[in-house]
Amino acid sequence: MGVQQGLSLTMIKIESLHKSYFRGDTPLPIIRGVDLTIDQGEFVAIMGASGSGKSTLLNIIGCLDKADKGTYHLDGIGVHQTDDDGLAKLRSSLMGFIFQSFNLLSRRDALANVILPLVYQGTPSSQRQALAIAALERVGLADRATHLPNQLSGGQQQRVAIARALVNKPKLLIADEPTGALDSKTGQQVMDLFKELHSEGHTIVMVTHDAHLAQAADRVVHMRDGRIVV
Ligand SMILES: Nc1ncnc2c1ncn2[C@@H]1O[C@H](COP(=O)(O)OP(=O)(O)O)[C@@H](O)[C@H]1O
Ligand SMILES: [Mg+2]
Repeated sequence: MGVQQGLSLTMIKIESLHKSYFRGDTPLPIIRGVDLTIDQGEFVAIMGASGSGKSTLLNIIGCLDKADKGTYHLDGIGVHQTDDDGLAKLRSSLMGFIFQSFNLLSRRDALANVILPLVYQGTPSSQRQALAIAALERVGLADRATHLPNQLSGGQQQRVAIARALVNKPKLLIADEPTGALDSKTGQQVMDLFKELHSEGHTIVMVTHDAHLAQAADRVVHMRDGRIVV
């Protein structure tokens, strides 16, 4: 359960969402009429076969991509009416992203990687280091702050990426197959960290194709051929 006991505030409200990609002039419908509501403090897993549209939907939720049709409200903001600059601001102020491949800068140490979103957000430089160290402490890696990614294990790299996602205190954590590159034991540890973050009140939307890992979530949403199925 999230922090909003009894009182549920809507974080995400998506209605009749559609998205196509084009092959030449031919539209390929990928998201074909999705309705989805997620409350503040919820932990939702999105499951489905490869190619069913999970990442496309997650990228739209994360304001990395735009739908063609339909409405999307995030924390009351009409994302479908927001231009590209506005989407970039929403991403840096409201979201933390965690990807399968960690996406850390290989020549920067853990601390510099975690500081990066604060630079984009314009946090005063005097505050950045303390915030980044606190985020690394949260994931149990403060003692690895000066290590480069290739001096860390896969699980540690993903925890650095989680610290980077947390450092802005985002309203929403977005994770696409966050354990896909990890062995099952390390993947379970990352999932335990997600469960803790959820119990602290974070809203999490995670794509996974692992039914066992999806059990960490409050709710599992299944996709098939660009639609949510029951
Ligand atoms: N940028 C793109 N251009 C064209 N087709 C794409 C693009 N991104 C994804 N697709 C296609 O959209 C479908 C759904 O992809 P995706 O959302 O990544 O599925 P999933 O994450 O469920 O595996 C796939 O058939 C994929 O090939
Ligand atoms: Mg995917």
